Amino acid sequence: MSKTVSYKDLGLVNSRELFRKAVSGGYAIPAYNFNNLEQLQAIILACVATRSPVILQVSKGARSYANETMLRYMALGSVEMAREMGAELPIVLHLDHGDSFELCKSCVDSGFSSVMIDGSHLPYAENVALTRQVVEYAHQFDVSVEGELGVLAGIEDEVVAEKSTYTQPDEVEDFVEKTGVDSLAISIGTSHGAFKFKLKAGESVPPLRFDILEEIEKRIPGFPIVLHGASSVVPAYVALINQYGGKMEGAIGVSEDQLRRAAKSAVCKINIDSDGRLAVTAKIREFLANNPGEFDPRKYLGVARSELVELIKHKNEAVVGSAGKA
Ligand code: G3H
Ligand code: 13P
Ligand code: ZN
Repeated sequence: MSKTVSYKDLGLVNSRELFRKAVSGGYAIPAYNFNNLEQLQAIILACVATRSPVILQVSKGARSYANETMLRYMALGSVEMAREMGAELPIVLHLDHGDSFELCKSCVDSGFSSVMIDGSHLPYAENVALTRQVVEYAHQFDVSVEGELGVLAGIEDEVVAEKSTYTQPDEVEDFVEKTGVDSLAISIGTSHGAFKFKLKAGESVPPLRFDILEEIEKRIPGFPIVLHGASSVVPAYVALINQYGGKMEGAIGVSEDQLRRAAKSAVCKINIDSDGRLAVTAKIREFLANNPGEFDPRKYLGVARSELVELIKHKNEAVVGSAGKA
């Protein structure tokens, strides 16, 4: 058991104030998943360059991959690195898809400033009870909590959902009131991973269900909404991966136009993991194919990191609209 640490001592912030400004300002805060040093450096470099607030997002799998103590110091290092570069960025350390009270508590106790409890696969009353339990604990330490209603298709950490179940607008008011959550993840047609839609010949990507989002906004006006599964699955990266020995035929994501529209609404947090993975994999494949004698990880991880910086700058500036908001 590692020692108990408050996120405030690490220089982190919770997400409440960021969401308030994002909802009223018509933009979203980007939440980028990371597992290792290079991904984290890229996120910070890009967010400093674009003066963007940022949510550093860690899944259960990422937390055990990186080690929880190491993670805490990586987050602390991020805050200090940004400061040394002359930027006082609001940085949130957030648990992505927490699946139990114990995991959420452990994250609160080890320096996270925000946690998600994902009870979306549970019967409604159980989701409410579990989410409420996490909120009661986290709020004692001023840690913000994200809940979820509706199920996304694709892979949610270790939970695999075959089909999406859209969020039912009739449930959101009751859920928010009974649980006390600070933000709500919804299902309106996005999905996790790099294969978001299975299209038959001649079919195009179905638009997101903005009609459901509007119904939700009517029920809980101004309440912070979260969009998971929001990678665009950048076609240029998929093409590079396939060109250099990969096999990702049929990979497809959500268009930037749809995400821009969502970011202007009550959607104030947009989750991006797969696009970062694709950028890194594409650049490493390309580099190693073109430099077969190279075996210094700094060389191939370095090109991957540089690409990730460019990708994140683009997302902040042209998709979520968070550039210049820090
Ligand atoms: O939504 C899930 C995230 O992309 C995290 O994925 O569990 O493989 O780290 P992971
Ligand atoms: P993507 O797989 O679309 O990047 O979604 C990531 C996500 O929702 C993390 O919670
Ligand atoms: Zn997710």
